[in-house]
Amino acid sequence: MTNNKTSILEVKNLKVEFKVQDGKVKAVNGLSFKIYDGEIVGIVGESGSGKSQTMLAVMGLLAGNGTTSGSVKFMGNELVGLSSSKLNKIRGDKIAMVFQDPMTSLNPYLKISSQMTEVLILHKKMSYKEALAESIKMLETVKIPDAKNRIHLYPHEFSGGMRQRVMIAMMLLTRPKLLIADEPTTALDVTVQAQILELLRDIRQEFGMSIIFITHDMGVVANLCDRVNVMYGGGLMETANINEIFENAQHPYTKALLDSIPSIDQEVDKLRTIPGEPPNLLQLPDGCPFQARCDKVSDKCQTDIPLQKISNRHIVKCTLELGSMI
Ligand SMILES: Nc1ncnc2c1ncn2[C@@H]1O[C@H](COP(=O)(O)OP(=O)(O)OP(=O)(O)O)[C@@H](O)[C@H]1O
Ligand SMILES: [Mg+2]
Repeated sequence: MTNNKTSILEVKNLKVEFKVQDGKVKAVNGLSFKIYDGEIVGIVGESGSGKSQTMLAVMGLLAGNGTTSGSVKFMGNELVGLSSSKLNKIRGDKIAMVFQDPMTSLNPYLKISSQMTEVLILHKKMSYKEALAESIKMLETVKIPDAKNRIHLYPHEFSGGMRQRVMIAMMLLTRPKLLIADEPTTALDVTVQAQILELLRDIRQEFGMSIIFITHDMGVVANLCDRVNVMYGGGLMETANINEIFENAQHPYTKALLDSIPSIDQEVDKLRTIPGEPPNLLQLPDGCPFQARCDKVSDKCQTDIPLQKISNRHIVKCTLELGSMI
């Protein structure tokens, strides 16, 4: 599936800045990447590396103090600078986003039936009866038991894992081509988390869509994704297919991230973290944002950082001599 050449999303030189009292927070800095048809791509990186803001910028959902520049092409159409009504239409129809806490998207005062049918009545012009039948079908797709009756419950009457499934069902109603999931399983216990990952794999197949899965958990990435984008300081450090990342990571930051995955026999107090602090986004250094924490740092790291191709779809942004320059 990852060999498919058609890209559904193409992000070029994306920048996201937030105006704050002390200056500008440079959350995303000249980020470029592609998402191909039908693939599941993990976006990993430490807290604050710009994962969520990248995707919120793609969706046109940045906070009021944020600005976006660069280009975001979805199925060939430029999204940056699009009017909010046109963006709303694409958002509702073709791109969907699932958040860590389903209650950010579910209305606690409305039954699931009202919330789901409303989407279909609005976007697909269905009658209530048609919309209800389709909504029940979608709840069955995400394996909600007794969907026919449970659709008439309120969100709080579901467990956390089931609520996340309801949320995913709701996002699938319009049959989007791209599903963006922002840490949808971090609040769930390990067993329920594994079930949601399996569900996402199944629905990708069934709906023929691409999925972007944001997480800081490399273990989750290993279980779910075809490819991974490693972010640091609002930039892309390395991208590669999943086997390649785990067997042949090149960027010092990716290696450090992989080293910090706990193994089963490790005691919690011996967990490794990457030494040093994340960069100050108000005063980013020239060149590589990881230079202050990198054990391979050299003078070259303060200049423009080259992109290097290691193998098919394995690209690294680093001054170390690794592959061929792009
Ligand atoms: N409205 C805002 N104003 C100022 N800074 C912001 C705003 N929203 C986000 N930021 C900053 O942008 C940076 C990137 O944030 P982002 O939410 O993308 O991080 P993340 O990689 O998703 O982290 P996490 O893993 O914690 O979710 C952070 O330093 C954050 O504090
Ligand atoms: Mg985030």
